[in-house]
Amino acid sequence: MLKEIKDKALDEKVPIIKDGGLNFLLETIKEKGYKDILELGTAVGYSSINMALLDKGIHIDTIEKNEDMYNQAIVNIRNEGLEDQINVHFKAIEEFKSEKMYDLIFVDAAKAQYQKYMEQFLPNLKENGIFLFDNMIFHGLIYEVESIPSRNTRSLVKKINRFREYIQTDKRFDIIFYDNIGDGILVAKRRKQ
Ligand SMILES: C[S@@+](CC[C@H](N)C(=O)[O-])C[C@H]1O[C@@H](n2cnc3c(N)ncnc32)[C@H](O)[C@@H]1O
Repeated sequence: MLKEIKDKALDEKVPIIKDGGLNFLLETIKEKGYKDILELGTAVGYSSINMALLDKGIHIDTIEKNEDMYNQAIVNIRNEGLEDQINVHFKAIEEFKSEKMYDLIFVDAAKAQYQKYMEQFLPNLKENGIFLFDNMIFHGLIYEVESIPSRNTRSLVKKINRFREYIQTDKRFDIIFYDNIGDGILVAKRRKQ
């Protein structure tokens, strides 16, 4: 059951998408009729199961490099009977290669790598497709970078801010920030060539 997966993930401090971000993601998929989805960062399969349950015609490739997360995702997906719709790839995102074209690429893994992932997977994005990035306000920390005590977190948040600035200058995309939804969502829609 979805609620059990969510509660267990929250108990065990597995970072899953916030309710507001998830609702936005699901509404976007329904509204646009997206069917082919690539997810970067599976964790225990919570977001991919939610997406797959929207429509039997939806197919998701999702990538996870942590073995424990991968194993939990496989069990959760099997328990929901969604193994035909969700394909979990146990590998580093950086090593994933595919010829497949996707309507939606949901980016929810290493936050410091967002720009790199965008370049890596742009060839897999359909002409009318979108990237959807989660954690774009990173728990609100993007607004108070200099007062973050941890050096690592400060460095990560600076990278998120640099990506936020960069993406606004990239002419290949029309972008919208939804900083008030979930942990901050960014939608980057591919411009027609
Ligand atoms: C925020 S969680 C994903 C949450 C999931 N999308 C959800 O909302 O249910 C991010 C996951 O990405 C995985 N991850 C981080 N960097 C990765 C990489 N380079 N390759 C593959 N997986 C990675 C982590 O192990 C973690 O489980």
